[in-house]
This record gives sequence, structure tokens and C-alpha cells, in this order.
Amino acid sequence: MRIGVAREIKTDEYRVALTPAGARELVVKGHEVLLETTAGAGSAFTDADYERAGARIVSVDDVWRQSELLLKVKEPVAEEYARLREDLVLFTYLHIAADEPLTRALVESGIAAVAYETVETDDRKLPLLAPMSEIAGRLASQAGAYFLEKPLGGRGLLLGGVAGVQPGRVLVLGGGVVGYNAAIIAIGLGAQVTILDRSIDRMRYLDEILSGRVSTVMSTTLQIESSIADADLVIGAVLVPGARAPKLVTREMLGVMKKGAVIVDVAIDQGGCVETARPTTHSDPVYQVDGITHYCVANMPGGVPITSTKALTNATLPYVEAIAEHGLAEAVARDRSLARGVNILEGRITYEPVAEAHDLDYVPLADVLPLTPA
Ligand SMILES: NC(=O)c1ccc[n+]([C@@H]2O[C@H](COP(=O)([O-])OP(=O)(O)OC[C@H]3O[C@@H](n4cnc5c(N)ncnc54)[C@H](O)[C@@H]3O)[C@@H](O)[C@H]2O)c1
Repeated sequence: MRIGVAREIKTDEYRVALTPAGARELVVKGHEVLLETTAGAGSAFTDADYERAGARIVSVDDVWRQSELLLKVKEPVAEEYARLREDLVLFTYLHIAADEPLTRALVESGIAAVAYETVETDDRKLPLLAPMSEIAGRLASQAGAYFLEKPLGGRGLLLGGVAGVQPGRVLVLGGGVVGYNAAIIAIGLGAQVTILDRSIDRMRYLDEILSGRVSTVMSTTLQIESSIADADLVIGAVLVPGARAPKLVTREMLGVMKKGAVIVDVAIDQGGCVETARPTTHSDPVYQVDGITHYCVANMPGGVPITSTKALTNATLPYVEAIAEHGLAEAVARDRSLARGVNILEGRITYEPVAEAHDLDYVPLADVLPLTPA
């Protein structure tokens, strides 16, 4: 198969969808890899690195026109909509439940759009979201600790405290992959950490592996209202797969928070779990509402592209290899996890939460493709 790797043009996005090591694996298996020139530069990979791995360096027009499978990191931006076309499989993060114009552009183009973030195993794990969630979670505590500094608009508090001085309090909303990793770093910094979740099984697990170093509490509106008043740093890390994030923190709740406290809403890529959150960028990451610093960078892992690009390729490569070897139809027939990643196919929305989010028609994937392996 001819596999293209496009350069990311979204602001502050330095990741690339394939490392030279990944390109090599595909070339060894007999596929052709086309890399848009300088696509790896932001992650410290040169065109020469890819050429040595067996890839061919091409222009932006050629990578979109000649590829059968196109790998990206982020969703296409408006200026890329005209490049979407039939007979192309696009494999990337899409997050279209929160993006109606892109959903419509994908439907109208006839492209096959497979979203990293909805590839889901039978035991409900999200293998292509997990590595970025690990990174975003770790960064969330790091960024939160930084923006608590007074000259940056924060309370002027050291999260870890020192001997004889109480540490800061971190409230993590959602104890999934982001929440767990945020907690690990916050604990490492010496903060007092509370995780709110709705899954008792998940909280039992967190309690066990963190050996009592965090408090886990059932997430209810009343509990959020009371915990938020004590928090120096709030980390929004909830997820309802494929749907917009629930608004757990209302504008009214900001009124009970300490002035200069920081909210890091990691769930911003699904619309955010804080009513006053709006997406920001790495170059202008924070803003204030009612004296509370909001950090809502929609592509946090993009800030550490060397780590993120490698972590992403480690996770995506087996799926890329499956699509390349069998074609999309056969690959999804063989692997239900990958089938759940298909959001749009032949002009139809095949992922129900996306159709629901925009009040558009949903067509089960099995009605568009035969889902029995050949
Ligand atoms: N901003 C970024 O750069 C970035 C990067 C990676 C992930 N994310 C986002 O971070 C969010 C979390 O991702 P994840 O991988 O940790 O998901 P996850 O599925 O591992 O965890 C989500 C957790 O939220 C819990 N939850 C659901 N509803 C809740 C509620 N009402 N109250 C409390 N907890 C609730 C679930 O039980 C689950 O444990 C997602 O929105 C994801 O898209 C953002």
C-alpha cells in the first residue's frame, strides 16, 4: 500500500504521525512510504533520516494526492478540507463530536475517516488515546505547578510545600489515564491529591496501585462544589468516549475557589469539563476568569514532540500495518477495536456519538461494510 505522512500545519503542532523507525517497518513489509518534506522536523527527524529508512520525500500536493492511506496527528484544518477525497483512508486524531464543520466536510468528501481516539478494545481501553493521555496528564501537573507562581498570575504557592509548610491541594476530576498520570506527578511534587471519579472499580484500582497516597472520592455535583473550594490546582480529566465532555465545573463554582488557583482542563479537546474553558495554544496557554487561571491547551502533547511522536508511533503502528496489509475493509472485519475507529465511511457517519452530537443520521458500520473476515 502507498502510505503518506502529511506535515502538521495546525498552530504549535510539532508531532509527526510516523517515526523513521516506523517507516522502516512498513518499507520492510513491502509498502511504499511517502513523507511530506520536513514533516518530521518538529520532532527532530530530518528528511534524510526518513530517506535512510526507505521513505520517499514528496510535496504536500503529492502526499495528499498519491497516498492510499494518509497518516496525520491532528484533524484536518479548514484549508485542508479541499484535499479530502474519495478512495483515501485518513487515520488521525479527529475529535469530530466537537467539530461540526469538519464532520460535514468529511461526509461530503466521501473519505474513509478512522479516528485514533475511538479505536477501542473489547475491554473498553483506548489504545491510541492512552499514550497521549499519559503525556497530557504528566504535563497537566507540571503546567499547573508552574502557573501557580505569583508573577504568572497564580496564588504564589509551591505545590510541594517545604518542611514545616503545608503542601498545595490538587483536585483531579476523572481518574482515567490522564487523571492517574497527573496524580503521579502531583504526588511526586509533594502535593496532596484527591481524585474524583464515577467508577468504583477504577477508584478501587487507583487506591490499590497508589497505596493510599491519594484520596479517591465519588464524583457528584455536591462533592465537586465542596472539594473545589479547597483546591489550589484543579485538573479536568473526564471522558465520555466519543462525546462532548460533561460540564462538571460551572462558572458559579469559580466564585468559591481561592483567587489565583489554577484550572488545567485537559478535556478541552472534547469541549472541556469546565464551563468557562475555551481552547488555548502553547504560545498563549492561559487566561483568567473571575481570578482563576485557566490553562486549556488542546494539544498538550504537541509541546513535547520528541516524546509524543515516539509514543504515538509505538501505539499506531500495529493498526497501520493491519490496514496496509489487508486494506481497510478486511482489517476492520478482523479487528473489532479498529472497526470502532471508523467514524465516517462512504459519506455516512458510522460512529453513533458523533451523529448524535450533531443531530445527523447514524448508519452502523456493518450496514456499509461486510464485517466478516474473508
Ligand atoms: N488536551 C490534550 O492535549 C489532551 C491529551 C490527551 C487526552 N485529552 C483528553 O483528556 C480526557 C481524559 O482522557 P483519558 O484518556 O484519561 O480518558 P479515560 O477514559 O482513561 O478516563 C476518563 C475518566 O473519567 C471518568 N469520568 C467520566 N465521567 C465522570 C464524571 N462525571 N466525574 C468524574 N469522572 C468521570 C471515567 O470513569 C474515567 O475514569 C479526554 O477528554 C481526552 O480527550 C486531552
